[in-house]
Amino acid sequence: MTDQPGGQVYPPMRRHEERLLLKVDMKRSSYCGQVTQKQIGQIITLCGWVASYRDHGGVVFVDVRDRTGICQVVFRPETGDVYELGRGLRNEDVVIVSGELVKRQEGAINPRISTGEVEVLAANATVCNKADPVPFLPGGHETVSEDIRLKHRYIDLRRRPMTEALMFRHRVTKVMRDYCDEHGFWEIETPILYKSTPEGAREFLVPSRLSPGDFYALPQSPQLFKQVLMVAGMDRYMQIARCFRDEALRSDRQPEFTQLDLEMSFVDREDVIELVTGLIRRLWRELLQVELPTTFPLMSWREAMDRFGVDKPDTRFGMELCDVSSLVAESEFGVFKDAVATGGCVKMIAVPGGGTLSRKQLDELTVEARQFGAKGLAWIKLEGDAGAGLMSGPIAKFLSPAIQQQLRSATGGAGGDLLLAVADKQETCWRVLGELRIKLAHQLGLINDHTWNFLWVIDFPGFERDETTGKIAARHHPFTAPLDDDLPRLETDPLTVRAKAYDLVLNGVEIGGGSIRIHQREVQSRIFSLLGISQVDAAKKFAFLLDALRFGAPPHGGIALGMDRLIMLMLRRPSIREVIAFPKTQSGTDLMTQAPSPVETAQLLDLHLAVVGLPSHGTTGSKLGATGSSA
Ligand code: AMO
Ligand code: AMP
Repeated sequence: MTDQPGGQVYPPMRRHEERLLLKVDMKRSSYCGQVTQKQIGQIITLCGWVASYRDHGGVVFVDVRDRTGICQVVFRPETGDVYELGRGLRNEDVVIVSGELVKRQEGAINPRISTGEVEVLAANATVCNKADPVPFLPGGHETVSEDIRLKHRYIDLRRRPMTEALMFRHRVTKVMRDYCDEHGFWEIETPILYKSTPEGAREFLVPSRLSPGDFYALPQSPQLFKQVLMVAGMDRYMQIARCFRDEALRSDRQPEFTQLDLEMSFVDREDVIELVTGLIRRLWRELLQVELPTTFPLMSWREAMDRFGVDKPDTRFGMELCDVSSLVAESEFGVFKDAVATGGCVKMIAVPGGGTLSRKQLDELTVEARQFGAKGLAWIKLEGDAGAGLMSGPIAKFLSPAIQQQLRSATGGAGGDLLLAVADKQETCWRVLGELRIKLAHQLGLINDHTWNFLWVIDFPGFERDETTGKIAARHHPFTAPLDDDLPRLETDPLTVRAKAYDLVLNGVEIGGGSIRIHQREVQSRIFSLLGISQVDAAKKFAFLLDALRFGAPPHGGIALGMDRLIMLMLRRPSIREVIAFPKTQSGTDLMTQAPSPVETAQLLDLHLAVVGLPSHGTTGSKLGATGSSA
């Protein structure tokens, strides 16, 4: 008889178990995490990794783990060699174990795991592979730096949250494919070796060996191919597509990422919105058991900017922007007065409970406001209830009691709140207060983490002026159709032309964007000339698209959903790196493979390339520490 913690006593081996020692089927019969009480009494075989071992000087308990979970296995002395093998097991050894599934006794039950009521009495076992001591334990509770996790991603992915994220991701793509199939979409692959086109971000280039001096570009998205597929009559296209953008990385940006890319012919904006809303509802229902409303709110870009200062508003909390220009235009505070007089504006937010912020915290906010482009940040504390002595702070004395009263009611501020004001160009006021609003909401815990606030932002401006070059640029991409009503102003007043573009926003994150496209060559040419893309340039870069538009292009439009962001939000993870099997660091490095890395001179010669003007090369060590905790 042998003991285990909890006092379970094991009976001597039984006949059929002894026979088992001789004849064992070493193929998996169950995944570890899927063993159920219904199988009690059966012989089962598990294949997996040693998640933990405890030698109680009598019996040895080994938790075996696979991608579904863990199951406890007991090695008993009377099994002889099998017991010896069990005693020699160490973390992360790969094993195959067979034996009878039995119920654990009362005191030995582990309610924290799904298989906590049962265990396998090992009758046979094989070690497929002994593991060296691992750099960290997948089941361990110690905090491991993200760099170490990425370097040994094969171990990191054994951790429960990571395995679950990959399984969840698989299910998301499955639901997407099923939904699109039901709605008549065909999945069509488009090239990865592509042509350099202007879509906004910097491109990754791939040199051609067969055509020396020429380059492919990796696609920023399959945008032009999917439009060509519409011209080709495919009607509805979808793809789980890889996109590549050489841009500054953040917690929700990777240099290569995945989109659910869609395009449809003979549709309007409303059709795309309805289809995608339906898909999102299906995902939430099937994967999160959450019933979302049948439609999501629509908000114009202009309203989003006026109320939230950003084009992807987080509507889970208030603190909306308030334009107080007309109220302070006549005040005695020069900063406000001058801003309005010179065509700018003054906007405010009322920070609930912000009156408790210290002087130091206010100074920090001012520094941040400056980083976002403000010349300064004015703050006013609201005192008690309405009445005399309404406001305090350095600028309160410049505001008459009447103005103070008006500001208080316009911003909806109450006693104990803080008013923050920026006087500047409209865009600067939006940006600064939009960013501070989000930061303060996090800092003050104003965000309800349990809601899903979806929002369609529509009626984006089609164009913007590039502040550095002064040129007109497309806000989305140059293939987005302008609103019909605005088209006549394309040449005369382009900055007021709105686009048939739409973004899907969830809890303040842009999870998708798309548009109705231009399907007439003449309109496309007008847009190219507005953007300063000459006929020659256009022909060189998009001859295929312009040709396609000549030979029978149907009206069409589409959208792309950022899969990584969507899954990050569904799983409430802090970064898209937590839902991507092999992500890159903030500096674009793959810490496991050490890509990017130098290549042989012979390879360069083959490509007719030379590396010139190289700044001193980073060492392998410098690639570590690159994930950045601020991400
Ligand atoms: P857009 O550029 O808006 O549209 O991209 C669509 C969605 O992709 C996600 N996304 C990213 N995710 C991770 N890392 C990145 N670097 C990154 N960049 C974008 C975002 C975004 O909403 N061709 C158009 C779509 C169309 O018009 O149909 C396009 O790519 O969630
Ligand atoms: P100054 O007159 O520059 O000393 O600024 C007086 C106060 O107004 C300080 O708290 C500044 O941070 C603030 N301030 C200055 N410029 C602006 C601005 N453009 N918008 C809002 N507040 C400002």
